[in-house]
Amino acid sequence: MIKKGEKLVLWNHDSSTLIKVDGDTKRISGIGVIDTDRFVGKRWGTEVKIGRERYRLLQPALKDGPELIDRKAQIILPRIGIQIALYCDITCGKKIVEGGVGSGMLTAVLSSIIGPEGQLISYELRDDFIKRAKSNLEKLDLYDNWKLVKGDVTEDVEERNVDAFIVDIPEPWKALKMADKSIKDGGFFAGYIPSTNQLEKTVKGMRKHGYVDIKSFESLERDMVVGDKGVRPSFDMLGHTGYVAVGRKTP
Ligand SMILES: C[S@@+](CC[C@H](N)C(=O)[O-])C[C@H]1O[C@@H](n2cnc3c(N)ncnc32)[C@H](O)[C@@H]1O
Repeated sequence: MIKKGEKLVLWNHDSSTLIKVDGDTKRISGIGVIDTDRFVGKRWGTEVKIGRERYRLLQPALKDGPELIDRKAQIILPRIGIQIALYCDITCGKKIVEGGVGSGMLTAVLSSIIGPEGQLISYELRDDFIKRAKSNLEKLDLYDNWKLVKGDVTEDVEERNVDAFIVDIPEPWKALKMADKSIKDGGFFAGYIPSTNQLEKTVKGMRKHGYVDIKSFESLERDMVVGDKGVRPSFDMLGHTGYVAVGRKTP
């Protein structure tokens, strides 16, 4: 049952819109005016009609993050964030430093994985991104385990003995010196990198800094369309996102 104060996603095939069921009447662009009280007491998944459109009432899910947050910079897709977490062995209770918060999508994924016992300290240079990311993260109802710090992840990181140090900044290799001081022996460094020449520079930098077990990869996902007459790959595949380099620090 949907309770007053909860958030829900109005979902149909064309859009996902996050709203808070706070009893207020809201004007939502592209949908219209909604009295949120009408959703209280309904079962999750119920279909409702608003104007001429029909929507399902769904619980917000992390995978829908890109559609629910306000984005300005390029984000790391949740599925790629999960892969980064896997290769950095990020699990409940881990302590992570992140650099380059942008819109906060990777921050949200990492916060969800480390759980209430974990710690995530995310450095960002720009005030406008800190403000946007904070508002996005608050929308997503995460654990109280994240902190946004205004600072340069290549210079200002104060945390030591961290389990993983993850950067999504234009020149990831510039963070390696700081990462050396911050990551515990055997811990992980990861960079999310838009182009192959930056990937090469990052991996060569990691080798120079003594990182081992280095893996670099690109993550592509091809949706399948299951129709009445047959099954085929979607025509709308996202052909490029970014590259990831991950490695482990040695003394
Ligand atoms: C592509 S965005 C990050 C997107 C983010 N990973 C997400 O999933 O939403 C890159 C961000 O890095 C920030 N940035 C660039 N250099 C930085 C540095 N040296 N230290 C901290 N933040 C930095 C930029 O201001 C920008 O917000």
